[in-house]
Amino acid sequence: MDKYKDIHSSVSSKKENVNDLESLESFRQEFLGKKGDISLAMKELGKLEPDERKKHAEELNIIKDSVLSFVKVKTEEINNEILDKQIKTESLDVTLPVSSSSGTIHPITQVIDEVIAIFADLDFYVAEGPEIETDYNNFTALNTSEHHPARQMHDTFYVNSETDGMQNVMRTHTSPVQIRSMLSQEPPIRLIAPGKTFRCDNDQTHTPMFHQVEGLVIDKESNMGHLKGCLEIFLKSFFETDSLNMRFRPSHFPFTEPSAEVDIGYKKKGNQLIIGEGSDWLEILGCGMVHPNVLRNINIDPDVYQGYAFGMGIERIAMLKYGISDLRTY
Ligand code: DAH
Repeated sequence: MDKYKDIHSSVSSKKENVNDLESLESFRQEFLGKKGDISLAMKELGKLEPDERKKHAEELNIIKDSVLSFVKVKTEEINNEILDKQIKTESLDVTLPVSSSSGTIHPITQVIDEVIAIFADLDFYVAEGPEIETDYNNFTALNTSEHHPARQMHDTFYVNSETDGMQNVMRTHTSPVQIRSMLSQEPPIRLIAPGKTFRCDNDQTHTPMFHQVEGLVIDKESNMGHLKGCLEIFLKSFFETDSLNMRFRPSHFPFTEPSAEVDIGYKKKGNQLIIGEGSDWLEILGCGMVHPNVLRNINIDPDVYQGYAFGMGIERIAMLKYGISDLRTY
């Protein structure tokens, strides 16, 4: 070890001066940096005879390893000290009162909570599904075949991945939660599924990500009359009005037959919209009786079971209820 005695003792004495990450880095550079003592000595090895070289290399590697392990241990030690200090000095007293400028619940979250509360009173439970869905659940199982025009209307974001060999999409509506729920649960089913939905669309009244709530009831007797009653109770309760003009307009959705769109009456008073009264109509949601093909797709016998479904945009009902003209300001 004679040849490297100086390096060895220099390593030992300089270790003493290391007390923070900066001095640790200088220490490392001094020995292992490009022009560090150990690195330079390593270069010199090439000039030696093979026997000598082997012997010296062994000695040098011992010193090098000791520097490396010191750097490793010391880094951890210093980082722990920094963390301890932070924990001691940066404590947060959660019992302090919040300042008056603190945040509030976003109107979308608030409306989702209101919708859930109303449907909970009507015996609906909340179901969830993933935002990245298979093309099959988002379209095919919902009776929307490959070339169905509804696929174009949905301006789908296709995702570069597959699940079980199936193309994935960002779900364009919350309706695929119907499929997932019917596959995992026997009827009777009575669910709502609020959540994020995505379409490649962006203008003053559309954003690429928006929210919907889906409703689904499957049992042996539910009919269009039940659907109407359920939606009437919901809309009256949501818009907090006892009188509500409401009409069912024939429509078309691949997953319901018959299908309808629901409009509610409104009138304008100055800048304000009065919901429920008046002779003007606002389209508010889509609904219908679940198409027998949807039930067949998940092995539910449509001769035994039937039911209704509905879907509505959360942004739209939030804006109407709270008189918000542009949600992007929130
Ligand atoms: N999924 C439809 C859409 O995004 C909305 C909808 C319409 C859902 C009718 C339904 C329904 O469950 O029955 O436009």
